[in-house]
Amino acid sequence: MAIERTLSIIKPDAVGKNVIGDIIRRFEENGLSVIGTRMTHLSAAEAGRFYAVHEGRPFYNDLCAFMSSGPILAMVLEGKNAVKLNRQLMGATNPKEAEAGSIRADHADSIEANAVHGSDSLDNAAIEIAFFFADLDLHSRR
Ligand code: CMP
Repeated sequence: MAIERTLSIIKPDAVGKNVIGDIIRRFEENGLSVIGTRMTHLSAAEAGRFYAVHEGRPFYNDLCAFMSSGPILAMVLEGKNAVKLNRQLMGATNPKEAEAGSIRADHADSIEANAVHGSDSLDNAAIEIAFFFADLDLHSRR
C-alpha cells in the first residue's frame, strides 16, 4: 500500500466543541501521522476559493458562511492509504448515514456542521494541501 498525504480540516463546529484532541487521537491510533497543522479563521471569500469545486450548488453560500464562522484546524495526514483511510474514519458526509463509531457519527450535528473535511482523491489532496501549507511546513515521519 502506498504512503499518501491527505488534507484534513477540523471544522468550526468541532473546534467549538473542544474535540480537536479526540479527532487527532483517532487518526494517530489508526496509523496516520500529523505532519503539519495550521489553525486559521477563513474569510467567506477564502472558504469560497477552497470549495470552488462546489460553486453553483445550492449549499455553496451556506457552506462558505459556515466554514468562515469560526476557527478551523487544517492538517496534513501521512500514512498508508491515507486518503481512503481518512474518509473511512470520518464517515459519510451526512451524519445520519455515517457509520457507527466514525468521527461524524460521534461529533457531527448536520450535513453542514459535519465536524471534518477530508480530501476525496490523491489529486485533490495535493491541491488542498497546497492551499494551506508550504513544503517547509510539512515534516514527514517516513
Ligand atoms: P465536505 O466534506 O467538507 O465537502 C463539502 C461540504 O459541503 C460537505 O462536507 C458538507 O459539509 C457540505 N454540504 C452541505 N450540503 C451538502 C449536500 N447537500 N451535499 C454535499 N455536501 C453538502
